[in-house]
Amino acid sequence: MKKLRVLVLMHESLVPPDSLDGYSDEEIMEWKTEFDVVTTLREMGHVVLPLGVCDDLGDLRRATEDFKPHIWFNLLEEFHGVGVYDQHVVSYLELMKQHYTGCNPRGLLLAHDKPLAKKILSFHKIPSPGFFVVPRGKKTRLPNNIDFPLLVKSASEDASLGITDASIVHDPIQLEERVEFIHTATETDALVETFIEGRELYVGLIGNRQLNVLPIWEMIFENAKPGDPRIATSRVKWDFKHQKKLGIKTIRAEGIPPEVETRINNVCKRVYKALSLSGYARIDLRLRNDGKLFVIEANPNPNLSFGEDFAESAENAGISYESLLTKIISLGLNYQAQWRLV
Ligand SMILES: Nc1ncnc2c1ncn2[C@@H]1O[C@H](COP(=O)(O)OP(=O)(O)O)[C@@H](O)[C@H]1O
Ligand SMILES: [Mg+2]
Repeated sequence: MKKLRVLVLMHESLVPPDSLDGYSDEEIMEWKTEFDVVTTLREMGHVVLPLGVCDDLGDLRRATEDFKPHIWFNLLEEFHGVGVYDQHVVSYLELMKQHYTGCNPRGLLLAHDKPLAKKILSFHKIPSPGFFVVPRGKKTRLPNNIDFPLLVKSASEDASLGITDASIVHDPIQLEERVEFIHTATETDALVETFIEGRELYVGLIGNRQLNVLPIWEMIFENAKPGDPRIATSRVKWDFKHQKKLGIKTIRAEGIPPEVETRINNVCKRVYKALSLSGYARIDLRLRNDGKLFVIEANPNPNLSFGEDFAESAENAGISYESLLTKIISLGLNYQAQWRLV
């Protein structure tokens, strides 16, 4: 690939230092993706400008004029402190006729609105857990077509915010308490789903129209006892000590029969298309013992840290970190945004 001017867009608090020396694992975890992407692109010979933004669109406009990037490498996950505003920032890049990596605004909007995404999946007959929504400020009314146990989570937050073992509820009292917790702790609507007991799978996809499906990845709980909840709570995702205690690992899923693997790959491709995703994404699924598969959610622009699930499964498929970043950049340069078609 020719050498490009790459503007790496990120939150201003996550602009990484030049070296990891002197930082603790906890500190590094905060801006590891930003560090890995910036340093790797530099090592590959690109001219890289990390741009930290918070709430001023003028920063993006000025960087466009001053740096004249060939492409924006988008690592931004919020604007004005609002998670779902990343889609508007990408819209703004399109309005400035800029190329960017990762997902387009429509895909970001659909995937981040979990209840809306589930309605679209349901139209396409793609299996996802039964659900109902309790909007903020409203009381829980249990529909009669859904059975306990249920799992209560935020309708729009990610990173397992608000998800603990207590998110699995077994009766109307626990349900009401947990819905109230989600309303107050995350300030979002609560999404209540049928709890799916099963294996926790993650599948990475890369592409705009032609999709490359990466090997199936699985979160395993090596030290969990029978009956322990095996879900990706926020401690499971972010607390190193807790991970050690439970023996949490993410590895290539073993022993999945070929026909189930084909089914998983097809379902993931259909989710990607149904939600208008582009660039790269990770689909979270659960596989029940009886072989039934459920889509839990789609993550456009998933964590790209070196050594994390997405990059690891790419590596497992023979795609090095450098080639992964190159592929993502090529897809961004080739994405047919509306402004290129008029
Ligand atoms: N319906 C469900 N049944 C079982 N586990 C679930 C369900 N929904 C979510 N989980 C568990 O909670 C985790 C986080 O939920 P998810 O919807 O992926 O939110 P996030 O966007 O925070 O990752 C999942 O990875 C899974 O372990
Ligand atoms: Mg998830």
